[in-house]
Formats: sequence, C-alpha cells, structure tokens
Amino acid sequence: MDAENGLNKGLVDTNREAGATSAKGTGAALKCEAESRAKVDPRNTAAGAAPAGPDSPYIQVDRALKRCQYSQDALIEILHTAQETFGFLSEDTMTYIARELKLPLSWVYGVASFYHHFNLKPQGEHSCNICMGTACFVKRAGEIVETLEREFRVKAGDTTVDGKLSINIVRCLGNCGLAPMVIMDGKVHARQTAESMLEECRKVLKG
Ligand code: FES
Repeated sequence: MDAENGLNKGLVDTNREAGATSAKGTGAALKCEAESRAKVDPRNTAAGAAPAGPDSPYIQVDRALKRCQYSQDALIEILHTAQETFGFLSEDTMTYIARELKLPLSWVYGVASFYHHFNLKPQGEHSCNICMGTACFVKRAGEIVETLEREFRVKAGDTTVDGKLSINIVRCLGNCGLAPMVIMDGKVHARQTAESMLEECRKVLKG
C-alpha cells in the first residue's frame, strides 16, 4: 500500500507540523516531545510490525539501530540507512523503525515527509526534484514542472511508466539565491529554465 495513502491522514496532519518543526531542533527536544506524545495518545504508537528474524530485510536498519543504541535522537540517521537500503521509506519500514525506537508512527512519518531527501514512494532510475518554494516559484519553477510533466507524460510526484524518471516537487532547498533550483540525481542545478532542465533530463535519460 502507498505510504501516504495508507496512513491515518487526520492523525498525521495533526502531528506533522509539530514533528517537522522539532526535527530541526535538538535531539533532546525530539525525544522529550515524542515521549510526551506517546503518553498522551497511546493509539498513536506503532504496533504490528513483523518481528526481526535472521531473514529479516531490516538487517541494515537493525545494525544502525544497534550502533545508535536505539536512541530516538538517531531517528534521521536510521531513516537514512533505511532509504539507502530500500530506496524509499515504505509504511512497513517506518512502522518497524517507529516500533524499534518506541516512537509514534505519526512522528516518524512527520519527520520523513518533512525532509525532501526522503522518498515515501519507490523512485525511478533517475529523480528530478524541483523546488517550488517561494523564491523558486516566483522565478517560474512551475514552468519547469509543467514542461517536464508534458514531455515525459508523468505527473509530479510520480514515476514514468518505464520506471526511468521520477519527478518530485520539494519545498525550499535552503539556497534561494540559486532559484529556480532543481536537484537531479543528487546534483544541484541552479537558475534553471524549463528548456535547460528539459535538455538535462533528456541527456540523463540517454545515459
Ligand atoms: S525557494 Fe527554492 S531554494 Fe529556496
């Protein structure tokens, strides 16, 4: 099931903003807030994830958890490991991490969905993340999105049918002086136009 659709949206929306804000704060604050949330609403805790066994797909995640001594402060590092292992963060993976760190699933989802680095859906061979923060939007990032959607016949947030290209819209990447900014396969492309990004995508897809 799709992670975004599968989760309790109301619950997530309620917790998302607070989760995202605190993620930028100290680890201690994150832990403290998470503990208080867990106490306030026990229904919000993750449960039901399959236990880890010798054949568990979560071996890399387990190693990272052990290395970090199951510290809730290490949530982002654990999410990084999971994404490196699976390519994206599925609902099952987030549920597993939430359970192991004794954090509410909505908290883990809130952090994962806040950072553009984390993918909640399987990604194509190449990914094109277009910033639609205010500065990039004003400098016509929307035209880049529309052009790529039209050319590659895929909606932003999805992957082409051949699995080659994912187009994503992300929030401010924190370097507004480079607007409009796009990250293609992890590489920054500054001050782009619809034409320049179209050319770049074609080039990347050709290999
Ligand atoms: S709005 Fe795009 S980098 Fe800030």
